[in-house]
Amino acid sequence: MTDPRLAVIVLAAGEGTRMRSSRAKVLHPLAGVPLIGHVLATARELSAAQVIAVVRHERDAVSAAILELMPEAVVVDQDQVPGTGRAVELGLSALPDDFDGDVLVLSGDVPLLDAGTLSGLIEAHRRTGAAATVLSAMVDDARGYGRIVRDPGGAVLRIVEDKDAGPDELAILEINSGGYVFAAPALRSELPRVGTGNAQGEKYLTDVIGLLHAAGQLIEAVPAPEPWMVEGVNDRVQLAVAAARLNAMIVRGWQLAGVTVQDPATTWIDLRSSLAEDVELLPGTHIAGATSVARGARIGPQTTLLDCEVGENATISRSDATLAVIGAGASVGPFAYLRPGTELSDGGKIGTFVETKNAKIGAGSKVPHLSYLGDVTIGEGTNIGAGGITANYDDIAKHATTIGSHVHSGVHNVFVAPVTIGDGAKVGAGAVIRKDVPPGALAISVAPQRNVEGWTEKNRAGTAAADAASRAATEATD
Ligand code: UD1
Ligand code: CA
Repeated sequence: MTDPRLAVIVLAAGEGTRMRSSRAKVLHPLAGVPLIGHVLATARELSAAQVIAVVRHERDAVSAAILELMPEAVVVDQDQVPGTGRAVELGLSALPDDFDGDVLVLSGDVPLLDAGTLSGLIEAHRRTGAAATVLSAMVDDARGYGRIVRDPGGAVLRIVEDKDAGPDELAILEINSGGYVFAAPALRSELPRVGTGNAQGEKYLTDVIGLLHAAGQLIEAVPAPEPWMVEGVNDRVQLAVAAARLNAMIVRGWQLAGVTVQDPATTWIDLRSSLAEDVELLPGTHIAGATSVARGARIGPQTTLLDCEVGENATISRSDATLAVIGAGASVGPFAYLRPGTELSDGGKIGTFVETKNAKIGAGSKVPHLSYLGDVTIGEGTNIGAGGITANYDDIAKHATTIGSHVHSGVHNVFVAPVTIGDGAKVGAGAVIRKDVPPGALAISVAPQRNVEGWTEKNRAGTAAADAASRAATEATD
């Protein structure tokens, strides 16, 4: 049920200079979801009446991502006045003028803060009747963060930014997480009074805390249960730290749900992937995007699956697959490359050094070795010999190859598309198939073999090959 007294403002307008990236910071992925997506998911869990996101830097890309992840969100543009205070001021203007509930402010770059911790914060805020409740954290290294300044009695006085702090303030180890709950009227009255006279020339949201205290309002700061929950992502070192932390939690969750993970340190599972009981993941495996793996499948080592569907008891070893469907009991690899549109049916095989693209391979059909199959449909129970290649591209367009059921292709066949091989047909070794093969036919395209007797002894006299040939000839006549 939605909470009509709660609005969320997500800040995502900052430039993110410390990332040194052409991509907006909040669009960098963590477990396969952009940073901002984690924050929006948390906002959704809190069932706020309204979610507002403030954008500016890379605004088109950022707002498109926000609206894709959360179509009901309202996107507001920040103007040229910089700072988190200005961002919230503009976000607030998207709320009805008479909204007098609570405004939860979240940073788009703090991805691991969970809804449980935040509902605790909102509860505390409502219990104490404070004008503002800050989510703080006790840390060992406060560098870069705003510090919570309390009086000797413990009352919160203000927040001082790292760049504006004096030596005493720098020693404070209670930091501002960037998550707060404000009474909407308190924000409305104080934000217009915040200036930009500070080290960064920005309109700081954090200045509202000092102003509210000066106005005699109650401010609370509640430390998060664990400091890592509120760690911001400002550079790529922090991005990797957050990614490892989140991955460890995801891996643990799947282990408790019945998945064997041999080496959690080298196994990466994206947030949107799902795994059934008795799935086994070997070292170096990345289950990415919206991949689903059914019961009993064994994946890895050294395998990446992006947006794939894997059936029960399938095995995939040392391979890379994107947008592929792998049937129950099928086997892939080692060293296979499955590109989008690959559909391997139940019990099928895509073996060693095989690349497939837009390839529908029927039940029990096998492509065991050294092949490229693109734009192909193969029936059931067919075997493609080693080195089978579809020549699907004539440098103008792609063409399709259709291979029936129970076909037996020889080694090193080339299928020059468009071409069709009928059910039960057989193709000789080395054949280049340019014409359709009717069902049940044997297709042979290589010229008959001719042996020139004694060629080596005559043309390569004195070589090891000629000696070997002459010895063999003597032995044969003995
Ligand atoms: C901010 C807090 C700091 C806190 C830290 C926690 C302020 C002034 N400082 O610092 O006290 O310890 O977060 O992580 O608020 N943003 C805008 N518009 C802007 C500037 C920033 O929307 O004009 C957004 C950013 O996109 C980001 C968030 O606000 O999502 C925080 O901005 P950032 O510049 O990272 O602030 P910090 O220096 O980390
Ligand atoms: Ca930050």
